[in-house]
Amino acid sequence: MTNRKLIAGNWKMNGSVGANDLLVRAVLAGLAPAPACTVAVCVPAPYLAQVQMLRANSPLELGAQDVSPHEKGAFTGEVSASMLREFAVRYVIVGHSERRQYHGETDALVADKARAALAAGITPIVCVGETLAERDAGRTEEVVKRQLAAVIHVNGHCISEIVVAYEPVWAIGTGKTASPEQAQHVHAVLRAQLRAATAHPQRVSILYGGSMNAANAASLLAQPDIDGGLVGGAALKEEDFLQIVAAASRCD
Ligand code: PGA
Repeated sequence: MTNRKLIAGNWKMNGSVGANDLLVRAVLAGLAPAPACTVAVCVPAPYLAQVQMLRANSPLELGAQDVSPHEKGAFTGEVSASMLREFAVRYVIVGHSERRQYHGETDALVADKARAALAAGITPIVCVGETLAERDAGRTEEVVKRQLAAVIHVNGHCISEIVVAYEPVWAIGTGKTASPEQAQHVHAVLRAQLRAATAHPQRVSILYGGSMNAANAASLLAQPDIDGGLVGGAALKEEDFLQIVAAASRCD
């Protein structure tokens, strides 16, 4: 049995009240009432309430881009999982490479963030991926396995509830995409690691992210272990995003 595909847009730090209104309305207008794949947008925290209202009674799911590992208290600037939950957030990205790189997030912190999300009933989209230097040094498998192992270590009992996103750092926002074969190879490595950790490794969706676009989505999504996409730049253009959704819907 294959997973229903998941296409999650990652808006990153983009948007405005006006632009979000236009984008979400255009995406909703182009979505089938019951799409054949799951579709989500992960929006900046201040816009969760706006997008929650725009998407009401639609199949579009809401996601956030980060979450605090803490439940509540003196953590100025942080947003807790239970706060996200109040806005009907179903997914939260954790461990995006931009957070690992610019905010010093460690594997252990990412694992704690995944735990906080799961405890609130939110599905963490756990990002893993190697840099170009790591790939060139032949360390891709070692790096992604280390990143996922930390999350398995802390969340082993409910690991089949997570989503994993393989995002090679060198492919993010660069226009360079991993080839379908390169991506499938890493996805198979991650699936094998999940197989050792859970009786339900197929239940875990493993998304590909990194310059996924309307032109390359179909060939990536056709790979046996690629269960969807985490889409950055192309998620800001409704036509491109909808074409990726259409490609994912054709896979089912
Ligand atoms: P990109 O970003 O599609 O713009 O490469 C993907 C991501 O960072 O999630």
